[in-house]
Amino acid sequence: MTYAQIVGWGYAVPARTMTNFEIEKMVDTSDEWIRTRTGISERRIAGPKETTATLATRAAQNALQVADLSPSKVDLVIVATSTPDYPLPSVASIIQDSIGASRAGAFDINAACSGFIYALAVASGMIASGIYETILVIGADTLSRMIDWTDRSTCILFGDGAGALLLRKSDCPTGLRACVLGSDGSGVGSLYIPAGGSRAPLTVEHVQNRQHLIKMKGSEVYRFAIQAITQATQQAVQQAGLTVDDIDLFIPHQANIRIIQAAAKALKIPPEKVFSNVHRYGNTSTASIPIALCEAIEMGKVGVGANLALVGFGAGLAWGAAIVQWGVDATPVPVAWWKSVIRNIHSREAVVRSFALRTQRRLDALRRFNGVNGI
Ligand SMILES: CC(C)(COP(=O)(O)OP(=O)(O)OC[C@H]1O[C@@H](n2cnc3c(N)ncnc32)[C@H](O)[C@@H]1OP(=O)(O)O)[C@@H](O)C(=O)NCCC(=O)NCCS
Repeated sequence: MTYAQIVGWGYAVPARTMTNFEIEKMVDTSDEWIRTRTGISERRIAGPKETTATLATRAAQNALQVADLSPSKVDLVIVATSTPDYPLPSVASIIQDSIGASRAGAFDINAACSGFIYALAVASGMIASGIYETILVIGADTLSRMIDWTDRSTCILFGDGAGALLLRKSDCPTGLRACVLGSDGSGVGSLYIPAGGSRAPLTVEHVQNRQHLIKMKGSEVYRFAIQAITQATQQAVQQAGLTVDDIDLFIPHQANIRIIQAAAKALKIPPEKVFSNVHRYGNTSTASIPIALCEAIEMGKVGVGANLALVGFGAGLAWGAAIVQWGVDATPVPVAWWKSVIRNIHSREAVVRSFALRTQRRLDALRRFNGVNGI
């Protein structure tokens, strides 16, 4: 039997922190209201030069470093995102180029805030079926670019970030043990961006009416979230042949501490088994679960053999729960100086390779132009 073992992990968040006190100056709200209703104190906001792809690149490079693996060994890059750098092409193709994964295929998945669970399921299935050996799974979003900063009911919630896991073929029974994916598309209007897609291509009027930004029915999503987390976790635990008591760490999507606590209570998971960092990052959409997992690893909360319950929910409405059995020793080891040098060479190689390919493409175009014009 073939398994998809998680051998690398990494995350990246923007340096810029935005506190609730700053938001107080933009809309009619207060730090106290935001903290008591959501648990959020601050979030990270992408700077002018940061994008979903730049954050995802950093997260991916960190995951490769942990795994001590060259990017040329990666077979496939999957990015879960709903805020790609461009409507076309995928962020995954940009990452494939930026990290120098010269052999890899690449595609994006959009399942909104549940996207990381979907991407993890697809990648694990591809490895288990023998199609690929090494897959980079990334969750990355810059929802700050889609937020209406005049709408106090949404602008308080979101932040930017990226998290990545590197999956490799293994004979050890490890990685994804069970997975439940679900969707209720009748809830599209609960959380969506009305304009900018094929239904309403963007016009000046849409922008003037702020239809290109996130619209949300908060209390509807709140009720859905608690039910989705609870049911999906119960189903996934059962599918894995476990009980909720067997879960060592519960890492739900970090949207709101009240949602997390209510779901944990319904599932009877004690607080010490629940991981949350929502107070520092807000809701980073599909990046929230991998960022939380990386921080849990940093804090020594993830040991070999641990059963993790990762649960996402969000726009769609869609949800996903994954039971993951952790398989590797995650104790940080100091990186040898020469490995840092090699890593540096890899990232420079990727830049040079990308430049060479682009130059080659321009030269080919020039040659064709000269040929057509008989020069
Ligand atoms: C958005 C959310 C925090 C609002 O909390 P809530 O307790 O449900 O608040 P309500 O929406 O019922 O609004 C209560 C009041 O607070 C007001 N309010 C909303 N946002 C506010 C803010 N930032 N500051 C102050 N007051 C605010 C509302 O206007 C409303 O006022 P009203 O009673 O005079 O009409 C909560 O519904 C939520 O977290 N929902 C889930 C959202 C989510 O996770 N989305 C992402 C999913 S991936």
